[in-house]
Amino acid sequence: MTDAPAGDAGGAGPRAVEPDLWRGHVVIGRSASRICVLDPGDPGRCLKFELPPEEQGRTTWRNRLRRRIGRTLPYFGYTSAEWRAYCRLRRRLGPVLHRHVAECFGLVWTPQGVALWSKRIVNEDGTPARRLHHWLTVERRYRADTLLEAVDRLEAFLLEHSIPLFDLNTYNLLVCEDAHGRVRLVSADIKSVALGKKLLPLSRWFPVLMRHKLHRRAARLRRRIGQALVPAGGCA
Ligand SMILES: Nc1ncnc2c1ncn2[C@@H]1O[C@H](COP(=O)(O)OP(=O)(O)OP(=O)(O)O)[C@@H](O)[C@H]1O
Ligand SMILES: [Mg+2]
Repeated sequence: MTDAPAGDAGGAGPRAVEPDLWRGHVVIGRSASRICVLDPGDPGRCLKFELPPEEQGRTTWRNRLRRRIGRTLPYFGYTSAEWRAYCRLRRRLGPVLHRHVAECFGLVWTPQGVALWSKRIVNEDGTPARRLHHWLTVERRYRADTLLEAVDRLEAFLLEHSIPLFDLNTYNLLVCEDAHGRVRLVSADIKSVALGKKLLPLSRWFPVLMRHKLHRRAARLRRRIGQALVPAGGCA
C-alpha cells in the first residue's frame, strides 16, 4: 500500500510534481486491491477501480479467493459490495452518514472497467485529505490527543448508528480538518460492511457482539496512534 499519492494528486500548484498516472488517470490513492483516481470530469469526485490481478498487492489466501470470485461473479466484487453497503447505510441513516463515510454516486462503466464513483474526501479548505497512516508515519502534524479524540467521535458515531464498520485501519481512514483545525476521521473504504470475513457473521447479527467488536477495533486504532505519537505530557 502506498501513501504518498494519497492527497498529492490534483495539486496543480506552482510546486506541482509529475502526477502519478494509472491508465491515463491521476492517482489519488492505492491499496492492495484497488486504485482511486480523479474523476476526469470533476476534480471533486473520484473513481475507484479494482486492480487487475498482476497489479494487486500480496494478501491472504482468503482475500485472493475473494478477488477471484469477484472477477467471476461481479456481485461479490469489492466495487459492487461497497456500493451495496453504501446504499444500505444511506437509506437507513440519510446524509448524516457522510460525516464519517465518503458520499458515493453509483457504479460507472468505463473503458478501464467498472468503478465506484464517489466524492473525493477533502479538508474544509478544499485541499486533499490524507490517510491517517500519513500523519502517523510521514508528517507529525497532529498531537496524539487530537487524533485519539477523533477516534472517540468515530467510534461513538458507529455505535450510535449500529454501523458494522470493522475495517478501522490507518489506510482506510482519512483525516479531514475544518477551518478551526478540528479533525474528523472519514472512511474511504466501507466494503467490509457488505463483505464480512466470517462464515457466520455473528457480530453483525447480535448488537452486543457488534458493540464489542467496534470497541476492540477502536481500541486497536488508539494503540496504533499511541505507538506512533507521544501523547501530550508523555515522554519520548
Ligand atoms: N473517496 C475518496 N477520497 C479520497 N481518497 C480515496 C477515496 N476512496 C479511496 N481513496 C484512496 O484510495 C485508497 C484505496 O482505497 P480502498 O482502501 O478503498 O482500497 P482497497 O484496495 O479496497 O483497500 P484494502 O487494501 O483495505 O482492501 C485509500 O486508502 C485512499 O487513500
Ligand atoms: Mg482499504
